[in-house]
Amino acid sequence: MKFTSTLRAIGASALLLSSVGAVELDITSPDSIKSAAKSISENLRSYYTGDRPGDVPGNLPDPYYWWECGAMFNAFVDYWYYTGDDQFNGITTQALQAQIGHNGAFMPANQSKTLGNDDQAFWGMAAMSAAENKLPDVGDGKPSWLSLAQAVFNTQYKRWDETTCGGGLRWQIYTFNNGYNYKNTISNGCFFNIAARLYKYLGNDTYGDWAEKAWEWELAVGLIGKDYHFYDGSDDTLNCSSINHIQWTYNAGVHMAGAAAMWNVTQNEKWRTRLEGIIIGVGVFFKDNIMVEMACENNGKCDVDQRSFKAYLSRWMGYTALIAPWTRDMIDPLLQTSAQAAAKQCNAGPNQTSCGLKWTLDGVNDNNFGVGEQMAALEVVQSLLYRTMSGPATEEKGGISESNPDAGSDVTDVPITFDRVTTGDKAGASILTILVLMSILVGAWWMVS
Ligand SMILES: *[C@@H]1O[C@H](CO)[C@@H](O)[C@H](O)[C@H]1NC(C)=O
Ligand SMILES: *[C@@H]1O[C@H](CO)[C@@H](O)[C@H](O)[C@H]1NC(C)=O
Ligand SMILES: *[C@@H]1O[C@H](CO)[C@@H](O)[C@H](O)[C@H]1NC(C)=O
Ligand SMILES: *[C@@H]1O[C@H](CO)[C@@H](O)[C@H](O)[C@H]1NC(C)=O
Ligand SMILES: *[C@@H]1O[C@H](CO)[C@@H](O)[C@H](O)[C@H]1NC(C)=O
Repeated sequence: MKFTSTLRAIGASALLLSSVGAVELDITSPDSIKSAAKSISENLRSYYTGDRPGDVPGNLPDPYYWWECGAMFNAFVDYWYYTGDDQFNGITTQALQAQIGHNGAFMPANQSKTLGNDDQAFWGMAAMSAAENKLPDVGDGKPSWLSLAQAVFNTQYKRWDETTCGGGLRWQIYTFNNGYNYKNTISNGCFFNIAARLYKYLGNDTYGDWAEKAWEWELAVGLIGKDYHFYDGSDDTLNCSSINHIQWTYNAGVHMAGAAAMWNVTQNEKWRTRLEGIIIGVGVFFKDNIMVEMACENNGKCDVDQRSFKAYLSRWMGYTALIAPWTRDMIDPLLQTSAQAAAKQCNAGPNQTSCGLKWTLDGVNDNNFGVGEQMAALEVVQSLLYRTMSGPATEEKGGISESNPDAGSDVTDVPITFDRVTTGDKAGASILTILVLMSILVGAWWMVS
């Protein structure tokens, strides 16, 4: 492995080791990275109760929404891939299969009230990672990992909606949910991500064409702005004539990974330029090479969902570096310094492995604890191991998950249990973007498009 030889100088060697009592991390040593990831992951696992008798697999306790549990199991799939430690594979497989719903497309009836395209897609992306990382299919007539990702794709491309804004996916699937009128970047970005990765895995142009189409639409409508900045979304009752300019790490990340997959397959200049632009563009989220959720971290306004967003940018930076090797020189300094800063402050809680929200090289933990904070630290640390890996499988190179191009194609968007949401209900409980927009005060420079 060329792990150490390619390590870049990133400041004083004193920074290489975190202080005693915290999670130890020497970024030059794969063993050290694995052991740090193990400590952080075991702490993350302690939040999950879905495997207990009487509890529901694939759900986290309050205050975590359904989608974040899917995101967490994606982190555990990646954890196993990067470290070889399979201690979470049992609960991962159980949870992913438990939440496929009666249609096998991650649309369980009792999540209808909170089911956005993005929520569904976070589970779909976990299944896609399982296929890419060669987590064995369950067999026994249960849907394969790959077919679950295909099912999400097949349900979502049919929701492409040209009645307003010239196209795009709405945030919500069901008309009765708050946010149905919002065409947001994370929903379209997740669709782009899944389409691009299916294209890479299967080589079927249908997926590549949809990825291209989603990107072009986001660009045309202005959700992708100049300098490859990704804005939050737009109101379709105004035909997307005005854009909400808040930027989140996960929007950039979800597109970065998709663009990397598109480049990996096509190796053309167009996708190379786009991918390079995105990586330069994420500079807005780094201060001294440390990742920051700029819109809410320093003003203390990150909600439960947003506390996990740095996990996804980290995850997808690792994925990008794996499949587009020319990006590594750009990604390494960001990933390495962020991982050190994240690990340094994972020094709280009963086992001194609880990570806070704010990553800092001075080892100060900000006492924000939760699934999001813990998952983000896990993803940024384990992604350092990308250099030791051969990269995601494809159908032709190592893939073992069964393809089913028709999966989910007979699904109609009519929920089994129609249960009207009232205003008092936990409105739009999926990834809450729009409802917090008004309440978040961000620096003026941040809003500049
Ligand atoms: C702390 O360690 C104990 C023993 O290994 C474990 O059972 C518990 O889940 C851990 N708690 C956290 C928050 O990591
Ligand atoms: C949702 O539906 C599934 C499948 O019918 C069921 O097992 C589960 O207990 C229900 N409740 C929750 C909170 O998921
Ligand atoms: C809505 O926006 C789309 C895409 O920008 C445009 O093609 C269409 O003409 C607009 N419709 C109206 C009614 O303005
Ligand atoms: C594309 O990704 C695979 C891993 O999935 C990797 O082996 C291959 O080298 C990448 N292609 C290029 C041109 O970098
Ligand atoms: C490609 O994928 C599409 C969409 O799932 C499917 O209809 C088509 O049959 C596939 N083509 C091949 C050659 O597998």
